[in-house]
Amino acid sequence: MTQPRNVVVGVSGGIAAYKACHLVRDFKERGDDVRVVPTPSALNFVGAATFEALSGNPVDTGVFTRVDEVQHVRVGQEADLIVVAPATADVIARIAAGRADDLLTATVLVATCPVVLAPAMHTEMWLNAATRANVDTLRSRGLTVLEPAHGRLTGKDSGPGRLLEPAQIAELARTVAEVGPLGRGLEGERVLISAGGTQENIDPVRFIGNRSSGRQGFALAELAAQKGAQVTVVAGDTDELSAPAGAEIVRVRSTRDLEAEMNARATEADIIIMAAAVSDFRPAAEANSKLKKGVDTDALSRIELVENPDVLRGLVDKRRAGETNATIVGFAAETDDVLVNGRKKLERKGADMLMVNSVAGGAVFGQPSNSGWLLGADGSVAEIAEGPKQVVAARMWQAIEAQER
Ligand code: CTP
Repeated sequence: MTQPRNVVVGVSGGIAAYKACHLVRDFKERGDDVRVVPTPSALNFVGAATFEALSGNPVDTGVFTRVDEVQHVRVGQEADLIVVAPATADVIARIAAGRADDLLTATVLVATCPVVLAPAMHTEMWLNAATRANVDTLRSRGLTVLEPAHGRLTGKDSGPGRLLEPAQIAELARTVAEVGPLGRGLEGERVLISAGGTQENIDPVRFIGNRSSGRQGFALAELAAQKGAQVTVVAGDTDELSAPAGAEIVRVRSTRDLEAEMNARATEADIIIMAAAVSDFRPAAEANSKLKKGVDTDALSRIELVENPDVLRGLVDKRRAGETNATIVGFAAETDDVLVNGRKKLERKGADMLMVNSVAGGAVFGQPSNSGWLLGADGSVAEIAEGPKQVVAARMWQAIEAQER
């Protein structure tokens, strides 16, 4: 289902409840029918009138309102997607215990659709053994409990427990609706991803760059973090994207900077993905001051280029030398004979897997969606159906996890 129709936004009683308003708007703006189901305590933070106005639907909290409509069963049965944000430690505990003492928990107990919980609580509560056990229980039952963000909480303290941004929650929930629960297939794995485009300076104001937006690499990073990995992203130029939640980010500019940062981290990585669009060549010399038309016409009209290192091949060489054991995944953007050229490139580079996509006619670069084939060095081909880049990232991780096993 590309677009969930009936979305239930569950809201439990935490200070982050006000952010649920943005979540409701996000779904509404995409044409979904949204029903907000707050717990009684959520209404201490945001009034029912706000949720009713934003969703255009009535708001009830208990199982004894509008009994003739059998709401405690109907809302859950009719839902295509349930997102609980914020999910407090208390509501997580009640859902894990199978309670149905208010409309929200009754709705979740009835539902057979995807359920996504976005926790928000103090770090101590998130780390408490009771919450950990409840979260594990829910995940083992196929509910998706998102990893909260790290950051400032209500008081002076900071740590894991902050609600993810509403836009991130909405996007992750849509991905779950499309591909199923995110799962914890990367628990404890160390994932290193390069993303974005590199830039090679000609002079202080000009450079050679490319149209990569960094979206696909960031989506892979964000999902890896949600699947339990410890993630580092080495990012070149990216569109105005917000940094992927839960990942460490290292900014670079040129191919050689990117190479140095990737090599320095390769030994510690279990999985390396080269999603960056790396400039194959750079100007032989970088001018210290701006080249002037009329004065430096020669230098400007004939920029001599020298080849950059092949970062992916260098990483494969490192593994051959025993300096890393990481599984290495590359990308290939091709315009013609996509699968044939992709297979050749995989062999030439010596990586374990290569995600090949067709970029003919301006597809992929800077675009919100993607598709392709994940080729394995063992001869396997996994088709990655077209979808938003985060959905593609989720499908890629499913295929990578299956190959790694
Ligand atoms: N790559 C790299 N270093 C380079 C060029 C590419 O690490 N100097 C990586 C990319 O990040 C990608 C893969 O290699 O994961 C394939 O990139 P692509 O540009 O398609 O390959 P090229 O080797 O440059 O081949 P082509 O001649 O088709 O451009």
